[in-house]
Amino acid sequence: SRRPSIYYRPINPNDLDRLEQIHRDIFPIKYEYEFFQTVVNGVGIVSWAAVDRSRPDGYSDELIGFVTAKFVLAKDSEIDDLICYDSSQGEETLIYILTLGVVETYRNHGIAMSLISEVIRYASGLSLCRGVYLHVIAYNKPAIRLYNRLMFRCVRRLNGFYLIKRQHFDAFLFVYFVNGY
Ligand code: ACO
Repeated sequence: SRRPSIYYRPINPNDLDRLEQIHRDIFPIKYEYEFFQTVVNGVGIVSWAAVDRSRPDGYSDELIGFVTAKFVLAKDSEIDDLICYDSSQGEETLIYILTLGVVETYRNHGIAMSLISEVIRYASGLSLCRGVYLHVIAYNKPAIRLYNRLMFRCVRRLNGFYLIKRQHFDAFLFVYFVNGY
């Protein structure tokens, strides 16, 4: 059988339909059209797509996984109390991971791990960036294992953070500090 040949690149406007479809398929939360527009146009956003170059023509550049994130000023973030400030250099920032997903048939190949590693590497290259953080719903064991394996720190449990079909669910807040912080 074909060996997947996974390649990572930024998300671009051609990914719009597929990005929206995968979000609809794998998340219990509905994302608005504006969210996808913002992601593909990359305003204040960083993102990576995973594609399988070994797929036949027409599919070799189609998304099979993605991570989307946005820039946040550390002082405006909900983890402002955990940040080390040193304003002589400029405003400290954080990267907040919005969504992460891999289509089912491509799971357990390390693709999510590579996507998050791309975010961490990017954040580490920005001298004013203090870290990468995210929320994950408390019952999402595979995602929690992934963040633990990548050495994210769980710093908070947020009661009833998510509201899904009129039911509240807790979230964990995970942080990965970069640049020595
Ligand atoms: N061979 C065999 N196993 C492997 C390999 C490999 N080459 N590489 C990694 N693995 C194992 C890992 O050790 C891990 O095992 P574990 O769960 O027992 O610890 C498992 O495969 C999964 O790791 P990855 O392959 O890196 O992750 P994957 O690409 O399967 O994606 C994800 C994980 C994103 C959570 C996926 O299950 C998914 O899309 N779920 C639905 C959406 C979701 O929950 N997203 C995260 C929400 S949180 C947020 O968005 C901020």
